[in-house]
This record gives sequence, structure tokens and C-alpha cells, in this order.
Amino acid sequence: MCGIVGYLGKKNTKQILLDGLKELEYRGYDSAGIAVLQNGEFSNFKAVGKLVNLEEKTKDFKTDGFSVGIGHTRWATHGKPTELNAHPHLGESSYVVHNGIIENYATLKKELQSSGITFLSQTDTEVIVHQFEKNLKISNNPFEAFAKTVKELHGAYAILLVTKAEPNAIFFAKQGSPMLVGINAEDEKYFASSDTPIIGHCTNVNYFEDGDYGYITSSEIAIFDKDKKRKEPKFLTLLQNKLSAQKNGFRFFMEKEIYEQSDVISDTLMGRLSENEIIFDEIDKTLFDGISEIKLCACGTSYHSAMSASYLFERYSRIKTSLEIASEFRYREPVMSSDTLFIVISQSGETADTLEALKMAKASGLKTLVICNVDNSSMVRLADATILTRAGIEKGVASTKAFATQITVFWMLSLYIAKLKNSLEDNKIAKQISLLREIPSHVKVNDDLHERIKRLSKRYLHGHGFFFIGRDIFYPLALEGALKLKEISYLHAEGYPSGEMKHGPIALADPELFTIALLPKHLHYEKSKSNVEELSARDSTICAISQIEFEKADDFVQISECRDYMLEFFEMMIVVQLLSLEISIRLGNDVDMPRNLAKSVTVE
Ligand code: F6R
Repeated sequence: MCGIVGYLGKKNTKQILLDGLKELEYRGYDSAGIAVLQNGEFSNFKAVGKLVNLEEKTKDFKTDGFSVGIGHTRWATHGKPTELNAHPHLGESSYVVHNGIIENYATLKKELQSSGITFLSQTDTEVIVHQFEKNLKISNNPFEAFAKTVKELHGAYAILLVTKAEPNAIFFAKQGSPMLVGINAEDEKYFASSDTPIIGHCTNVNYFEDGDYGYITSSEIAIFDKDKKRKEPKFLTLLQNKLSAQKNGFRFFMEKEIYEQSDVISDTLMGRLSENEIIFDEIDKTLFDGISEIKLCACGTSYHSAMSASYLFERYSRIKTSLEIASEFRYREPVMSSDTLFIVISQSGETADTLEALKMAKASGLKTLVICNVDNSSMVRLADATILTRAGIEKGVASTKAFATQITVFWMLSLYIAKLKNSLEDNKIAKQISLLREIPSHVKVNDDLHERIKRLSKRYLHGHGFFFIGRDIFYPLALEGALKLKEISYLHAEGYPSGEMKHGPIALADPELFTIALLPKHLHYEKSKSNVEELSARDSTICAISQIEFEKADDFVQISECRDYMLEFFEMMIVVQLLSLEISIRLGNDVDMPRNLAKSVTVE
């Protein structure tokens, strides 16, 4: 996702900002920019695409002597990845960079526009700089104007602002998105949204806390908390290892990404939930006109989220839904009819089979929608409409947070369609929306749970195979659990519908067959339980995952109390992800780059 850097000092500001942005490249971005204030004048550069494009644009620009500068890599959320939408954003005489989402931007923008302000971009960020300048005109005091602006913003943000009205300072604010300041013995100040850009430049770092705002000059660090009380910075020694800084102390990117799911799901939900309806500003309701069927098409993990969606679409939206594995769809001469909405799902937006399937659907005249994590990817460019999942870049080859955000989007989309088709009463939609708001707290990884799974994993390293079993929407979760395990442990694992085991696979049951049983309390509990009992009676080794204690299991992982099966889905998703991770680590495998696999499969 987006990255921020800032610098205040006498060294080569341009190079420091560009180098800092390079250190944030691993987070993924689609455009970048910098603004430098030197001798009372601003210089600003922006470019779409890779940082080399920005480097090229700035090649004749030099910075000598004292200056302040801010830089940003943008991962599009509001508005396409264009130069105009890239940060920093300009007011009359100030620039701003921002990570996060300003939820009340539309209201602020309307007010500013009605007072004659012209907006250049489609972003939520641009309101910050105009609001600041509006407040500055009233108070004539840059800090007061900044503090007032921060109080007027709702949502999540990490903000840096520089202004000609106070040319020796950088103003900052943090709420929900990370931001830090680093110092050294040379009186320089470095800002960044994570450690890596300041490693090698700074000795000490202060991590801002939610609600912090203030300003920093060469000689002063002024931090205020949410109650406007001045507070002392808490400087810690900066660790100097870049790779571990990127991993935030986690052993593997996959582990970090599992832990990030709560935050990225909050991003996925942000601005899309109202009291009793789902808001997808990015799609037009007419997309669903004349549609009586949905066809979902994808590969791998994205296919599993598509399968999960098929349960939600039929249950809540009451719309006929079919599923296609993209590599199969391409060559089986499918019959397509124009009342079908063709939805492709892809983390990368580049998977060759899914892309070709999308081209076929378009060529047959179907309306198309892509659920994707990467704006401007091939699928996003091709489809009629896009919903972005906002998971941020996923580095681990085994997909985790991309899957979690896809499921979140599908749950929202099923309610969006339900509202359009009147298939669910308003109070039921409102209840579902209140459940959606609970997902982030249910996917927060609990230390005790992780510790329990770590210990348990040592009993599941051998044996002749794994069955992950579940019913209904827990069947695609079982498939996903099995896929995770095979990918990174190289052990044989299958996902199976619980009720189908007795039609063949139960013949394999013995103590060396490991069954991972998904037993949600709120969906077909009794039926699923009898299926697991059938396996237990045949001496299969069983690890049950449930809210309800299950005495017939050899091992039991208890999830927290949930008031709906979808919340149980998310809790169990965390358990199967962690189980695969810990088994793989014990087997000594390369968790992030498992053998034979690639992150983006752009070949057939
Ligand atoms: C598994 C995994 C793959 C991808 C599949 C499709 O962990 O990541 O199965 O889901 O290759 O990729 P995308 O979603 O990029 O189309």
C-alpha cells in the first residue's frame, strides 16, 4: 500500500526522498511524487508507474542547503493511478501527502467547492491541504490551522504537510496509519511510514501514536496528543536490519500478512458500509440491470473465494450463481448468455488463465466485473467494472490476506445485490452490516491461539495425508486450508465436503490420516459433527476447530465466541493459515518462496 517519507535538513533532500521511496517499493504502488520547499520556493514532481519514471523527471533538479521535503508512493484507492491523483497534493502554497482514507472527504470537498476551491484530483487526500489553507486564512497561524484541520478529519491517516507559511517545519498527524520520525546527531529529521527508509540515516526513532499531531523543525519536536496535551517523544534505538524491518519482526512475510489481516480488512470495509446498505462508489448499479445469473471464474485461492461467494450470492442475493476454474473454462466451449454477469477474481490481475477467460466473456458480449487487488492490472483495464480488495502488496507466495479481503468484498457484494434485488429485508441487511464491522476484531491473532497451534503442529508432520473437511461455505475454506498446507509443507492434503467422506475417502481413515474438521456452531453443526464422528469411529486422527468443545477429537482448537457463521469462517481461516505456517516452519521449508511456485502465474 501507500508509503510516506519526509526530510528536513541540509543534505541532498531530493536524493534522500527518492532513496526512501525506493525502500518502500516492496509495499507496492502505482505512482509516486515528491515536493521540496527550498529558499521559499516549491518544486514538485510526480510520475505514474515505477520510481525510475520519477527519477527521470527529477534528474535536472538539485537540492543544496537547508530544505524540507515530502514524498509518497501511491496505491490507488480513490481515483485511478494518474499523475493528477498522485501525491503530494497542492493547495495555494502548501503540499500534503497522506496514507489511509478520509471518510468524510465528500462532505468537506462539497463545502470547499461551494466556497470556490477547485480540486485537481479525484482523491480524498486533496481536501486536507485545502481545508488547511482555509483554516490558515482564518487564524493566520499555521500550527493552529493544522491542528484544527486534523480535528475536522474522520477516518484513518498518516499525514505530512509542508507550507510556505512555515518554511522551516514539517507538520504531521497520525491516526490508524503508521508514521514515525527518526533523528541523528546531525540535527536532521526523517519521517517515514515504516523503518526501512530511515535505516542507515538515523540512530533513534519515535513511533507516533494514534491521535498524535504536531510539527518538527531542526531544533524542535512538538508532539500533541488527541487531547491537545503536549507530550515528550519516546525515542528508541533504531534496529539496522532492513529485511527484518520489512517483516516488522515476523519470521516470514506470510506470518506478517496473516497478522495484517485485521488492518487490511478494515481498509477493505472503509467507506463502504452505511447503516443499512453497502456503498460501492466504484460500480454503477446499472451493471446489474437485466442480470439473472452470475458466473464466477478464477484460479487457486481466488477460486476458493469465488466458491465461498457462490454460497453468499445464492443465500443472500437469491441469484443463480455458477463457478468456473479459469483453465477449464477456456477450452470447454462454454455456453454464455447475455443475462449473465461474468465476475473474475484475481489478487494480481495478471493470471493468464483468468485473463483469457475474461477476454472470452467480453468477446461473447457479457458484462464483466473484476475483484482485484492491483489497480491498473491487465484485468482491471479490461473489465467493465472493478472492485479493489485493498489488501496491500502480498509478498508470501501462499496467499492469505488477499483471500481474506476477497471474502470480505464478496460478503459486501452479496448484500449490495440483495438490496438491489430486494431479496433481503432492510433489517437483515443492517444486521449483516453490523457483522461485517466485527470481522477485524475476529481476525486479530491472539498470542495464546498462535502458541497453541505452534505446539500442536509438531504432531502433524508425518502421516499419509490430511483431509480438511467442512460443509456449506466451510467446504471452500477446507479447500483453502488444504491448499495452504500443500503449498508450503509439501504434505498431501485434500479439502472435502464433510458429508461426502463416506462416499469413498473414508476408506483411507486410520490413525495416520489427519482430519482437520471445521465445525461452526452456527451452520449445520449437528450434521457436520456426525460426519466427524464417522471418521473418529474409524480411528482417523482428528483436529477439530470449533467454538464448541468436541470430545471425540484428538486435538481441539477453540475459536472465540462468534455470533454468526461468517465470523466463525474468519476465525477458522486464521487457524488453518497458522497451522500450515507452523507445520512448514517445523519442516524447515522456505515459507515465503515454496518450491515450484510463483506469485503471479502469467503463463498458461
Ligand atoms: C495460493 C495462490 C494461488 C493464486 C492463483 C491465482 O496461495 O496464491 O493459488 O491464488 O495463482 O492468482 P491470482 O489471484 O493472482 O489470479
